[in-house]
Amino acid sequence: MNANNKKNKGNRALRFYNQVLGLDRLHYGLWEHDDEFSIEGVKKAQERYEKYLLNLIPSDVKTILDVGCGTGIMAENLKRSGYTVEGLSPDIFQKELSTYLFHLCCFQDFMPKIRYDCIIMSESSQYIPLPHLFDVAKKSIKTDGYLIVSDYFLLDHASGPLSKSGHTLKKFLNVAGQYGFKINHDEDITDRVTKTLDVAMHFVEKYVIQSIDIATEKIKENRPHLFYFICWLFRKKINRIKEDIKLLDSHEFKRIKRYKLMLFQLREEDDYHKDSPFTALLPRERFT
Ligand SMILES: C[S@@+](CC[C@H](N)C(=O)[O-])C[C@H]1O[C@@H](n2cnc3c(N)ncnc32)[C@H](O)[C@@H]1O
Repeated sequence: MNANNKKNKGNRALRFYNQVLGLDRLHYGLWEHDDEFSIEGVKKAQERYEKYLLNLIPSDVKTILDVGCGTGIMAENLKRSGYTVEGLSPDIFQKELSTYLFHLCCFQDFMPKIRYDCIIMSESSQYIPLPHLFDVAKKSIKTDGYLIVSDYFLLDHASGPLSKSGHTLKKFLNVAGQYGFKINHDEDITDRVTKTLDVAMHFVEKYVIQSIDIATEKIKENRPHLFYFICWLFRKKINRIKEDIKLLDSHEFKRIKRYKLMLFQLREEDDYHKDSPFTALLPRERFT
């Protein structure tokens, strides 16, 4: 798959969540057991995810670059909480939504004018090639500054359609280490996010597939030749829908992926190997 196809596929998924499901946020939700199995439930879980992520921001952080800032809701919340925030994305529509300093580019092409205390990548790291992600992050973050990554990653044995998105976890962590990023917090939240896929799958099966079935039933009965002609005409679109539906399979997701919440700290070159790779957890519960 070339870069453009990959980008279009990513944008299709985002458009689906945003325009079809009506979600303002473009990331998974963090679920509790009793959350409602509905789009409203997804929204609540997404808000919880955001608070959980933002509580990872260390207390000495003042300036933040939100890489792949999406609809900008998180950046807005950060601004309201007193941080100096900038956003970055290659998407012109996201620039139009922004109310903060916005860099319209891919992160791998970004040339920072300042160094930030913290960079946040909420489900955007998977779009940024390695090792460029850490190379540019290293040039953009102050020494001892932070990189928060929340995203899904592939396990070594990953295969099938779902394996086309996400970095391999092992490689990601290796490259991070090579560029001087030490991991301060590492949390696997896979089991708490995959209900987002179940709701999306349910919605697609119930509303999208059933609507197509109902709409085409009459044509299929009365004009079978026309029906098969239409199917042939739209075969690429139909195949694409079938492929996209496979991307919502939560069992397959759990088999080949891990959703990780990680806080890295950029260390002085000399310090790379001094400390243990894991240090104490940083303060939580500031975003409630
Ligand atoms: C799944 S959305 C996540 C949006 C937002 N961070 C959130 O959590 O709702 C992925 C974001 O990454 C952005 N993106 C895609 N490719 C990128 C790249 N090469 N560099 C920076 N951002 C990129 C997209 O435009 C989009 O804003």
